[in-house]
Amino acid sequence: MTLETTVSFAGIAASEDRFQLATYRKMPIVAERGSGVWLFTSNGDKYLDLYGGHAVAGTGHCHPHVVRAIHEQADKLLFYSNLVYSETRARAAEKLVSIAPPDLTKAFFCNSGTEANENAMRMARMYTGRESVITFSGGFHGRTADAISATFLGKYREIGKPNVPGHVEAEFGNIESVSALADDTIAAIMLEPIQSMAGVRMAEPSFYRELRQLCDERGIVLIYDEVQTGVGRTGNWFFAGSSASDGVVPDIITLAKALGSGVPVGACLVTEEVAARIKENDLGTTFGGGMLAMAAVTATLEAVANDNMLKNVNAVEAYLRARLNEIEQVVRVRGLGFLLGIEFAENAATIHKALLEHKIITGTSSDPRVIRLLPPLCLKMSEIDLLVETLGQIVSHG
Ligand SMILES: Cc1ncc(COP(=O)(O)O)c(C=O)c1O
Repeated sequence: MTLETTVSFAGIAASEDRFQLATYRKMPIVAERGSGVWLFTSNGDKYLDLYGGHAVAGTGHCHPHVVRAIHEQADKLLFYSNLVYSETRARAAEKLVSIAPPDLTKAFFCNSGTEANENAMRMARMYTGRESVITFSGGFHGRTADAISATFLGKYREIGKPNVPGHVEAEFGNIESVSALADDTIAAIMLEPIQSMAGVRMAEPSFYRELRQLCDERGIVLIYDEVQTGVGRTGNWFFAGSSASDGVVPDIITLAKALGSGVPVGACLVTEEVAARIKENDLGTTFGGGMLAMAAVTATLEAVANDNMLKNVNAVEAYLRARLNEIEQVVRVRGLGFLLGIEFAENAATIHKALLEHKIITGTSSDPRVIRLLPPLCLKMSEIDLLVETLGQIVSHG
């Protein structure tokens, strides 16, 4: 059977399975269209998407402002590289820098989270003249060679073998473990400020402050991998500079996921000091800074601001926490803003599956007791009610 003869779930699934590598375990649905927090499938079902299209749909699915900007740009020019100037790129960089913590004054655009992290580490090496990088157990930074070598989580480093040399592992939240490794070979300390895949783990605000001090004392570049936490997800534009970070701003922030609302784009936000050491041809990528992606970036940031999504995240997070408190089986709610982990006493795989059967999409994590929520930033309280009521029914039926 081919796609030409069928559009049924079974036909589409069989075709994908036949012609693509089986690298992801898929949900048994065919995504057809989306609107805000809702995903509509080919057989007419409607799912509440609390996983936000893999943390990408920050503005919600198909936000009209973003869609319009992409359409308009597509009519004008799809792409030209950094070999030419572009008003669309100028606007995106200016807008992104305008919402960044004041010390981060320069942007470098690429195409994904892993690429942003590779470039951030490379900039740190160029800036310091050193080679090694400290990252943390439980952190995830991507799947290309350097980023996967920086990923001390589960099997990832193993599948990335041979690893890039010079990556060392410290314990998240434990400053002594970092201090013991932070000698004059270390170019950068890189961390997910909230470790998402590890089960949504945060450190005390003082940990980020101590990391900043250590980096300042020892001439090390501090990198926040904000691929998940950036672009409003925590209720601030960035984790950097927020009270959860004790106001700490790193030397480089890396971004991707929600930055283009679904158009692939990554970025590094960099201090003037680090940027000054980066010369022509030191970094590059054909597609980085392309017009379609840049139009999506500007429109995404505008949509978040115009719709007061940061305020919404803060208000709805508080409501979600309060309502989840009503469910006895919820041990605690971890995380910040709309990067939340609902922790149960036992393995939550059956709850995750049952939620999907009730047409609510959530995420798992490497901690089997934790269900992850990464919803669009426009999620409303009424949709929280749907989640909590459904979850209540599921857990009360065992
Ligand atoms: C924190 C973090 N960093 C980096 C990456 C890699 O991003 P990408 O898949 O766009 O390469 C991810 C992806 O899940 C991520 O969650």
